[in-house]
Amino acid sequence: EQSRQIQQTLAEFRLSKAQLLEVKKRMRVEIERGLKKDTHKEATVKMLPTFVRSTPDGTENGDFLALDLGGTNFRVLLVKIRSGKRRSVEMHNKIYAIPIEVMQGTGEELFDHIVYCISDFLDYMGMKSARLPLGFTFSFPCHQTSLDAGILVTWTKGFKATDCEGEDVVELLREAIKRKELDVVAIVNDTVGTMMTCAYEEPTCEVGLIAGTGSNACYMEEMRNIEIVEGNEGRMCVNMEWGAFGDNGCLDDIRTKYDQAVDENSLNEGKQRYEKMCSGMYLGEIVRQILIDLTKRGFLFRGQISETLKTRGIFETKFLSQIESDRLALLQVRAILQQLGLDSTCDDSIIVKEVCGTVSRRAAQICGAGMAAVVDKIRENRGLDHLDITVGVDGTLYKLHPHFSRIFQQTVKELAPKCDVNFLLSEDGSGKGAALITAVGCRQRELDA
Ligand code: BG6
Ligand code: GLC
Repeated sequence: EQSRQIQQTLAEFRLSKAQLLEVKKRMRVEIERGLKKDTHKEATVKMLPTFVRSTPDGTENGDFLALDLGGTNFRVLLVKIRSGKRRSVEMHNKIYAIPIEVMQGTGEELFDHIVYCISDFLDYMGMKSARLPLGFTFSFPCHQTSLDAGILVTWTKGFKATDCEGEDVVELLREAIKRKELDVVAIVNDTVGTMMTCAYEEPTCEVGLIAGTGSNACYMEEMRNIEIVEGNEGRMCVNMEWGAFGDNGCLDDIRTKYDQAVDENSLNEGKQRYEKMCSGMYLGEIVRQILIDLTKRGFLFRGQISETLKTRGIFETKFLSQIESDRLALLQVRAILQQLGLDSTCDDSIIVKEVCGTVSRRAAQICGAGMAAVVDKIRENRGLDHLDITVGVDGTLYKLHPHFSRIFQQTVKELAPKCDVNFLLSEDGSGKGAALITAVGCRQRELDA
């Protein structure tokens, strides 16, 4: 009876192919809304123009600074790109911590901290007063009107610094830099940076995916379809901001009470509902909500809700990944739970592992359904019966989790059978792509001058 009730609880997370096809279809509807002039203002999937008009062609050249803010790590990078026959990219980087007080303090503090890290990095590289063009990977939704202007629509994930939303982030950075000799040339979403990084090696890469702390995708859309940008020729990369899919209620039939609890406990209630079902920052929270419920009902941990279980954020992606690893014996799962401060029996550990597996499978599947909508859209854009395409991917969930990438890929294959999709893991992060975009931006400035 107990096991029947647990199965009943988890059944809500097990989506049928018909349900996944429905998710794909709804994503397509939201994509169209975001692209169209008369609906884009209210659209939840914002389809933000990036002013990146092509993938790299190997002629990019120069030395650049890059910032990479918004994922697990904040980095400052020096990227040296050489064009021509022996083209190459050399990168140096340093990771800096962003304390939670700074993530959630004032905007001024945040940008002062960023500038402090830049000057520390320049010291570290022994290049005190270099005047270098800078590309800013800023992994949040921004309304761009050019390559070097981006108004923050809303913070997502763990950030909530004051006085930034509605402001041009490039200006905020420039103000903080003050007299320092730096030239901010481009603001870049991490999906776009990832796509460009991968496209430098593989020209068929025209889509970028992040399955990490957050979840998002970008792709090369036809200019004629991007109604809010003038011009009909060629293509432009669109930052979808698909994490906000569902914010108009269109996923409510598959959201569970646990998803709602995660949302209510978050920094941005009501927002990023799809992201909260499929990205690393939230999967552990869904698991925790289910475990709390099962414990209350007496099926787990001898019915005792410990302080640990009440603690937000205990199940980080790396723990979920360990728990779900097939190489681990149950005893080891128990050891991990013990490490987290959860005293479990053997039966408990079996249940916990099943809960984790169910939650991460649904995440990979709905993420795959979103991607199926994207590749099919590209196929239709090009009037093809069959599309071959590469997707550049990054993110801790995709990289660390033992099953996510496989289930995700299977789902894309099943839901978009007319597309052959090749997934290319980004080894170099978004910073390299941001530098490549900066190189193109600098060339354009010279032409315009
Ligand atoms: C990295 C990018 O490679 O991937 C980051 O350089 C990005 O900018 C990240 O945000 C996504 O992964 P995660 O898991 O750290 O959020
Ligand atoms: C969040 C951000 C988005 C970013 C994604 C992955 O969804 O809003 O801009 O691309 O996380 O980091």
